[in-house]
Amino acid sequence: MGIRISYVFFAIGFVCICYSCREGSSKKERGGTQENVSLLQARFSKLLEYPLDANAIPRSFTKEIGKTRKVTSADWTSGFFPGNLWLLYRLTQDSAYLERAEKWTAFIQKEQFNDNTHDTGFMINCSFGNGLQFAEKKEYEAVVLQTAKTLSTRYRDRVGCIRSWDFNADEWDFPVIIDNMMNLELLFKATALSGDSTYYKIADTHARTTMANHFRADFSTYHVVDYDTITGAVRKKQTHQGHDDGSSWARGQSWAIYGYTMAYRFTQNKAYLERAKAAADYFLTSGKLPADGVPYWDFKDPKIPDAPRDVSAAAITASALYDLHRYTDRDDYSDYADAVVTVLEEEYLLQEENNSPFLLDHSTGNKPKSDEIDEPIVYADYYFLEALVKKRKLLVP
Ligand code: GLY
Repeated sequence: MGIRISYVFFAIGFVCICYSCREGSSKKERGGTQENVSLLQARFSKLLEYPLDANAIPRSFTKEIGKTRKVTSADWTSGFFPGNLWLLYRLTQDSAYLERAEKWTAFIQKEQFNDNTHDTGFMINCSFGNGLQFAEKKEYEAVVLQTAKTLSTRYRDRVGCIRSWDFNADEWDFPVIIDNMMNLELLFKATALSGDSTYYKIADTHARTTMANHFRADFSTYHVVDYDTITGAVRKKQTHQGHDDGSSWARGQSWAIYGYTMAYRFTQNKAYLERAKAAADYFLTSGKLPADGVPYWDFKDPKIPDAPRDVSAAAITASALYDLHRYTDRDDYSDYADAVVTVLEEEYLLQEENNSPFLLDHSTGNKPKSDEIDEPIVYADYYFLEALVKKRKLLVP
């Protein structure tokens, strides 16, 4: 109850407080909501027009040098750009987006056989998974199923998890990151498509193991938990992209909220629902969330308020909270999601003259490595569009 009351004040404050001085995105310059709608639509066409190239998939935009960072399909972010086009097709029903989405999606196809990472869930579910869902592309089913098969080879029964990363082998034995929760969606879908329960069981066990080991008493999350491959015991609990091992990396918290909300959707396991709520309540009530709802990159950066924000964490959380609201009737969740969608549209949209194929500014990729700080990043756009689609009730997963 206390949470709900304080959240009402938060939501009111949210609407009232004029967030000022963000680079290139002042509400005053924009002149109101109608103009924001057309500015957003103008940005959609920048994604549509971006030149097709299998080896140059847009990932982020480095403002200092005015350049789009491009990746191949092997990068963990490769599925988001095609995903954005699928979501735009869902939003607009304009076949131009469908045609473009199909072409970009085809570039990712070979990743169905990539067994070097857990991120094939992101790559294939956001591209092929959305094509299957929004355009009933039946031929995409085989790619989703092959990816599930490949991803399952990274699962170890002894640990009860999928191995996330293969690098840093001298430091970690069997590293599992909180982000890995997101890649379970593809496995759950694969069981729904094929009737083969193997994928469901792996995903469910991974979610249960992660619930036991990745959370602190306050339901903030560790980024990396390293397991002993032989015994299955926990070796280390650390961070990789957060401020320090005991801190709370904002996007990691968002992955946890989204991951457990999604796991509840497929399993109806109430423990997952409770964990999603607990993770969301940490995000909303830790006392470190700025008035506009866009978190600092890490809830425990001692430099707050002089720390970069992470729009991607706000967008991921907003998308998840539309679903969590439906499962719980907690209006504070949909209030947050509505407010974030509005503020991102009104205050964080890229300037018209920026010709990069992105929508939103001010995400933070990897702060400890000084990589992609305060920049447009493709996955922020993805979860923002997904939230917009859910807000307009065009997607009820
Ligand atoms: N999964 C990597 C990241 O969130 O940056």
